Amino acid sequence: MLRFPGRHGARIAVQKPASRRYAARLERITPFRVVELLERAKALEAAGREIIHLEVGEPDFPTAEPIVAAAHAALAAGATKYTQALGIPALRERIARDYRERLGVEVGADRVVVTSGASAGLLLLCALLLDPGDELLVTDPGYPCNEVFAWLVNGEPVRVPLSPDRGFALDAADCAARWSARTRGMLVASPANPTGAVLDRATLAALVELARARGGFLILDEIYQGLVFEGGPGYPTGLAVSDDLYVLNSFSKFFGMTGWRLGWMVVPQAAVDGIARLAQNLYISPPSISQYAALAAFEPDAMAVHEARRRAFAGRRDRLVDGLRRLGFRIPLRPPGAFYVYADVSSSGLDATAFCWRLLEEFGVATTPGVDFGSATADTFVRFAFTTSETSIGRALERIADALVAWSAR
Ligand SMILES: Cc1ncc(COP(=O)(O)O)c(C=O)c1O
Repeated sequence: MLRFPGRHGARIAVQKPASRRYAARLERITPFRVVELLERAKALEAAGREIIHLEVGEPDFPTAEPIVAAAHAALAAGATKYTQALGIPALRERIARDYRERLGVEVGADRVVVTSGASAGLLLLCALLLDPGDELLVTDPGYPCNEVFAWLVNGEPVRVPLSPDRGFALDAADCAARWSARTRGMLVASPANPTGAVLDRATLAALVELARARGGFLILDEIYQGLVFEGGPGYPTGLAVSDDLYVLNSFSKFFGMTGWRLGWMVVPQAAVDGIARLAQNLYISPPSISQYAALAAFEPDAMAVHEARRRAFAGRRDRLVDGLRRLGFRIPLRPPGAFYVYADVSSSGLDATAFCWRLLEEFGVATTPGVDFGSATADTFVRFAFTTSETSIGRALERIADALVAWSAR
């Protein structure tokens, strides 16, 4: 008999039949619904249908040219070996310099840890901070893999529901209310996936204080940190509010390097040694060529490209939010960050999953159902990613308008 945390933190028992070859934890790791949708979208495309993709969580832009050129140079110079587990010193220093020069925050390079994407950072932190049975507070809706990382180390994610009526703003009091004797800490994203919500300074300070008062930790996922539009938090990074947290970031989103599998963390000094041991054992080092390429990501020519793209994302956001609102969808929050609009599609008369499937099958627009992000908004909300051109967004809105007319006629 194995004991595992249930979806909502309750403990469930799983009987492992003698014949089964795989660990019981696999049963709770469900594929994203959007993967099924994506496969269907690909099949439709192969059959000649033109699909507009509003489901994809990565920038449509290619990696900026100066970064690609730096990768070529690194390859030519033979940078093809393992590196230090915590990342090459030059990149750790370059990241620290970026915090100092661009974000106005002093962070020692020795506290910067380069990882294989923020994904590896999340796994490292769960392994570092959670013992079996320890609870980790996560938001609902939220990034679904967070729960899986906790499960992998036999921790127990506990969901804190976010209310659409409050614009999906996290309230530290809700975290305090769910903090049990087994809770070790919180994992919060700002800007968040799928809502684009950002934590204001007061909430962030309250979360830091809650963690301190309970002897726990706060992990702040800032993977969309560079993609903040007007209406942002008024501070550049959580590190400007407190040093007493674990901050994750990534080259995937703002820097447009999803496939390079590179991210970083800023952690308290005392945690670095444990993280180094875990990283060495788990994956030896982050990818070498990607690290040398990423050195170029902070230089002015590349930064100009990222900044232009951030402005493009802001324009797309407005086009999508305004268009969806005109079609009658409730959008509790014009997202101040990230590249997603989280919209209530109840006015279509369909539940969110049916909405996504029918929109894809009948009108060729791919979106992500709320069920992929938790249970609180699973039936009513859909994530629309603005990771495609404004022209495509305009055409998607026309198709959605057609869908609403067609569905209401039946
Ligand atoms: C909130 C959040 N955190 C972490 C990740 C993982 O990103 P990566 O491993 O590409 O850095 C994602 C990816 O979509 C995300 O949305």
